[in-house]
Amino acid sequence: MNPQHIIISRDIAAELRHVVDDVRPDRLFILTDTTTLRCCWPRVEDNDALAAATMITIAPTDEAKTLDSLTHVWAALQDGGATRHSLLINIGGGMVTDLGGFAASTFKRGMAYANVPTTLLAMVDASVGGKTGINFRGLKNEIGVFSAPHTVIIDTLFLRTLDAENVRSGYAEMLKHGLISDEQTLAPLLTFDLDNIDYAALAAMVERSVGVKERIVAADPHEHGIRKALNLGHTVGHAFESLAMAEGRTILHGYAVAYGLVPELYLAATRCGFPAERLHQVEAFVRDHYGHFAFTCKHYNRLIDLMRHDKKNTAGTINFTLLGAVGDIRINQTATPADITEALDYYQG
Ligand code: GLY
Repeated sequence: MNPQHIIISRDIAAELRHVVDDVRPDRLFILTDTTTLRCCWPRVEDNDALAAATMITIAPTDEAKTLDSLTHVWAALQDGGATRHSLLINIGGGMVTDLGGFAASTFKRGMAYANVPTTLLAMVDASVGGKTGINFRGLKNEIGVFSAPHTVIIDTLFLRTLDAENVRSGYAEMLKHGLISDEQTLAPLLTFDLDNIDYAALAAMVERSVGVKERIVAADPHEHGIRKALNLGHTVGHAFESLAMAEGRTILHGYAVAYGLVPELYLAATRCGFPAERLHQVEAFVRDHYGHFAFTCKHYNRLIDLMRHDKKNTAGTINFTLLGAVGDIRINQTATPADITEALDYYQG
């Protein structure tokens, strides 16, 4: 995978112009979803560099991260005469940057794409690191490729367009970055006032959080080793998310990650010596800001089965990333169904 090029932008119009000037595409396409078109596009559309672009719009939310949407994007690229020398700019949340990245990386075996994340989740996680793809048959990100964007332009001006739930969703990935990095990154995250957001302080924390992900991806772009650190909270989190999706009570990805952090940090505490007081602090933060994911012990087998299907596993084992302490990353930790049952019991209280 090519090295990442991530720009923390103070002037989105100028950065977009630089990308178009650098790629010099024969044709330019912009992919967005209907919500982003309404809330964010007005902040970037007045730009000569984008004047000739063909707009492609898909439905919003993770429910649209489907083969049908992907087909729509491929068809729009084909109808618009896209070639390997064209450029697709994905403007939106993680659904748009993941699906658009996959569409571009597979169209005619690959054309350039750039990401302009407009949600907190996409800024600190989804748009950075070259993971692209779609959901398939009820499983998250089941089909996809690693393929780096030409550029990721992160401009926190878009944060003001987000509702409280979407801020919290992205914030869960920032908490994860704090947990896998160091106390200096984690401590302000646990005391930040999410009810009265100081956007300047949030922007500074976003920059730091993106730096955590950038360093990890640079060290291990294809997730053979340390990139697995980014999966903290996700083994259980993805199972919660898939269960919720199957039951028609879809939850935002970051909420699933926040809920998943609690049983996974419990496993970390019982197996790797992660400090109990930190577990309790994170647990209280998650409860206060994200509430509780409702399920009963009747769901345990289903959840464990969903964890078995996770891409991170080999030969039927269930893999976790755990911590011995903040920043003390332990990848490739397996847990038995009995261990997981204990962790889910702990989460249930
Ligand atoms: N979202 C985890 C990763 O990019 O590896």
